[in-house]
Amino acid sequence: EKGAYRHFMEKEVHEQPDSVQHTLSEYLDLVTGAAKPQSVDFAAVDRIQIIACGTAFYAGQIGKYAFEKYAGLPCDVEIASEFRYRSPALTPGTVAVAVSQSGETADTLASLTWCKAQGLKTAAVVNVHTSSMAREADVLWPTHAGPEIGVASTKAFTAQVSALLALAVAAGVARGKIDATREAELVKALFEAPRLIAEALQMDGQIRAIAHDLAKATDVLFLGRGAMFPLAMEGALKLKEISYIHAEGYAAGELKHGPIALVDEKTPIIALAPLDEVYEKTASNLQEVAARGGPVVMIAPASAPAPHGAGIRRVDAPDCHPLIAPLVYAVPVQLLAYYTAVQKGTDVDQPRNLAKSVTVE
Ligand code: M6R
Repeated sequence: EKGAYRHFMEKEVHEQPDSVQHTLSEYLDLVTGAAKPQSVDFAAVDRIQIIACGTAFYAGQIGKYAFEKYAGLPCDVEIASEFRYRSPALTPGTVAVAVSQSGETADTLASLTWCKAQGLKTAAVVNVHTSSMAREADVLWPTHAGPEIGVASTKAFTAQVSALLALAVAAGVARGKIDATREAELVKALFEAPRLIAEALQMDGQIRAIAHDLAKATDVLFLGRGAMFPLAMEGALKLKEISYIHAEGYAAGELKHGPIALVDEKTPIIALAPLDEVYEKTASNLQEVAARGGPVVMIAPASAPAPHGAGIRRVDAPDCHPLIAPLVYAVPVQLLAYYTAVQKGTDVDQPRNLAKSVTVE
């Protein structure tokens, strides 16, 4: 039941400190500060192929950044409806990983079955542990988001990201890329996510004010670099799904290769800018947009240096380790879509034309 919340989506957004904690605990040991051993021998794997649809695809892309950065493990991510029909060339040392909340999405399931038939080792990051994918895959990597009712995925997404980040750390340890000191640091950082997600939920008031303006827009751009790029695409998807406002997510560095032509005073730009190694690059992209009259909302920690130039509105996010930024910044992104939809009076939990689980292709 919804309890005190107006919609399931709102309730599910607020459940994330718990769902992330439960999911991380599946893969990491808080007490010893170590990644738990996995049945997949990451040292013997030479590539990861993630297959997913929609929000799970964006979670997979965040996973890719982590597998390559922390484990030195090549990782490809593909939309299942493309993967299954294009005869992909895969090497025998590849592990195919389906990512899915329901575990029933037709294209993802068919891709998983195909990989298995090719003789690849398969794994499934799924939230429904009795689902077809959970049964089909050689290895089940569960997420512990609990039942998700809202059609727009929120807590299942952060649970998928949690599992993939934790597995990337486990892979890094197994492959000798992460030593014991670094392992303890990364595990500690991951376990800070539930508290920082709770802190991000306090951004509610600031986000509501932004959503009030966003509801008047017909087009919105989301920008980010690194793992914030897939999160920008997830933010755009969330806004489209429940508020019916056209939105696109872009890598901030791609702006000048085309989308900057869209910038005018009527097109809000939401920038996801944690204080990481590419912060300065993002900040300078925002100055370029603001200089062209684009109303910029920059979600960044208060401690981040201010970019120069007028027209940049700041929303303060918690300071966090770059590894967990996709988990912490998911919250303002979800709240933004939620409050914009509420402002527009759409059916938040059951948006038009959408089904919770897409079991036909
Ligand atoms: O159950 P799955 O995770 O396989 O579902 C995949 C997509 O259909 C799903 O994420 C969809 O994009 C959501 N409506 C996003 O909010």
